[in-house]
Amino acid sequence: MSIAIGEVIAVKGVNILVELYEESNKETLFYQGEKFKGVSIQEHILIKRGFKDIVALVQGEYLDERFEQEDGKSYVRKVELKPIGYYDQSEFYEGIKHLPMIRDVAYLMNEQQVRQIYGEADDSFVIGEILKEELPVSLPWASLFNTHIGVFGNTGSGKSNTLTNLYTTLFTNKLQSLNGKSHFVVVDFNGEYTGKQLINDRDFKQVYDLDTRGGGDSKFPLSESVFWDEEVFGILFKATENTQKPFLKRVVSGRERFRDTPDSLDNYAKKTIARALKSTSPKKEFAELVREIADIVGADGLRDLVLQLSWHSKNSNFYYLTSQNTLNGGDDDGTYLQFFDAEVEAITIGHISQFEELRLRVNIQLLSDLVSGYVQFDHIQPLLKRVEASLKSLERVFQIGENPVNKLLTVVSLRKSNQEIKKVIPLLLAKYYYGSHKDEVINDSPPSHTFHMIIDEAHNILSMQSNRESESWKDYRLELFEEIIKEGRKFGFYLTLSSQRPADISPTIMSQIHNFFIHRLVNDRDLMLLDNTISTLDSLSRSMIPNLSKGCAVITGTSFDIPMVVQFKPLEKESQPDSGDVDLHSLWSD
Ligand SMILES: Nc1ncnc2c1ncn2[C@@H]1O[C@H](COP(=O)(O)OP(=O)(O)OP(=O)(O)O)[C@@H](O)[C@H]1O
Ligand SMILES: [Mg+2]
Repeated sequence: MSIAIGEVIAVKGVNILVELYEESNKETLFYQGEKFKGVSIQEHILIKRGFKDIVALVQGEYLDERFEQEDGKSYVRKVELKPIGYYDQSEFYEGIKHLPMIRDVAYLMNEQQVRQIYGEADDSFVIGEILKEELPVSLPWASLFNTHIGVFGNTGSGKSNTLTNLYTTLFTNKLQSLNGKSHFVVVDFNGEYTGKQLINDRDFKQVYDLDTRGGGDSKFPLSESVFWDEEVFGILFKATENTQKPFLKRVVSGRERFRDTPDSLDNYAKKTIARALKSTSPKKEFAELVREIADIVGADGLRDLVLQLSWHSKNSNFYYLTSQNTLNGGDDDGTYLQFFDAEVEAITIGHISQFEELRLRVNIQLLSDLVSGYVQFDHIQPLLKRVEASLKSLERVFQIGENPVNKLLTVVSLRKSNQEIKKVIPLLLAKYYYGSHKDEVINDSPPSHTFHMIIDEAHNILSMQSNRESESWKDYRLELFEEIIKEGRKFGFYLTLSSQRPADISPTIMSQIHNFFIHRLVNDRDLMLLDNTISTLDSLSRSMIPNLSKGCAVITGTSFDIPMVVQFKPLEKESQPDSGDVDLHSLWSD
């Protein structure tokens, strides 16, 4: 049984008005030993309508004048309610199906009943408590972790802590049963999760701390076949669609075709150089490319010879400044035979790294394409420059040979990486993991494995606006993540994104997120976006967002019956992400 507190006096649309009895002003009430919360904003009220009990939330209250003839106090308290669900045979259902009628009686709800609304299925998944009721909240993990999750909020509002809390709770409860069936990858832009966070046990956690400044010895492993892929190169070197991608494709397919032929790279280099220097319609750029190739393979003699060549632009051929010998192509190749032939034939490429091989192959390929008149030098040259420029940092963060070992959790920290690698790696990881995961589960329905990609500070890679990069590259970047967020669910591939500026993130991505954890957000544009993308957010919770305290978030989405405002419990010191505020008291103490 329960305490009656008032009667319904008006129902307009879904707004219910209840006039309260005189004695219902207490903060807490006890009835037959049970505790009840009094009537104030955001509290739950039960309205009996026949056999159904309608649950409503208090939206506001005010005083109204009494009719003259009544004596005693001259004001009466009225509260506005909004229904959120109903009990049918002591089972709670969310949504508005029934509305009360005038004169229906309203009752207080005891803690047990309120708890039932927010689900008490699994007590082990407690991540915090409901702000108002101070009831522990246990998350419905089975329906939460198979969705895309978004965590949003201003800087310092507690996003990283919330992410950590969510996944730490998951790992603490399910470590053994997850192992081997699911894989979690954290893309960690600021190195917040490289310590004991999430999982303390290194048998289950693999950390790659990628350092482009040199000095770090932790490199991300890629197998040869993953690395030698035109799409991967396209991403790494930001190749343009029409000319540079096909060029990279020729590089990769050329390598593939002669893989098993001994000395194929030596012969390829020799033949191409000979073709270039014996060409009947030489081009100025040949000398530069031959010199570059000679440099890479360490053919110093050839390099010195080429350095002495000059270009005669009127005759369009090469000549020697000292001897005036010209390089004629076709049958008149005396100069070539006299000076170059021996040097070119002597080329031997010893063992070179995969990165050097790539550099060598793009140069040879370009030379070969130019000799055949396939491409314009100016179209490909920027790509070559990018390859040159990126190789150093790539060499520091990748190790070509084996594929990564799939421990339960992989953390890829980009704290020490330069801006370029920060852009490229998440994309490469997403492409690699999405591809390999899809292959793994392609025949299973539903998928037998799941993959969870967690990206903290996702605005780094999912933003719509970025003036520093070309359109085509931006398109590619977004397309990949848009595909994952649209198609990933069917393959058991889920994203968890955290960001400070939801308004910057591509609308396609925002619109596909199932569940939201929203911390304090003050910017109007961000709030507007939430209004438009989250259908489950009610106006009361929405109005609280700009004023939420640290670690407090509105949780809403498809896995939750109704929006909840939850205060996350602080994690233990060593499990917190490395993102704490600076303590000026101790820093500036003397
Ligand atoms: N649940 C919580 N209870 C108490 N304090 C918290 C809670 N969550 C976070 N904090 C505090 O708030 C501060 C910022 O937290 P956090 O690093 O998670 O914010 P953030 O939103 O990830 O910030 P940024 O966007 O800059 O990465 C930390 O000092 C942390 O101790
Ligand atoms: Mg953070």
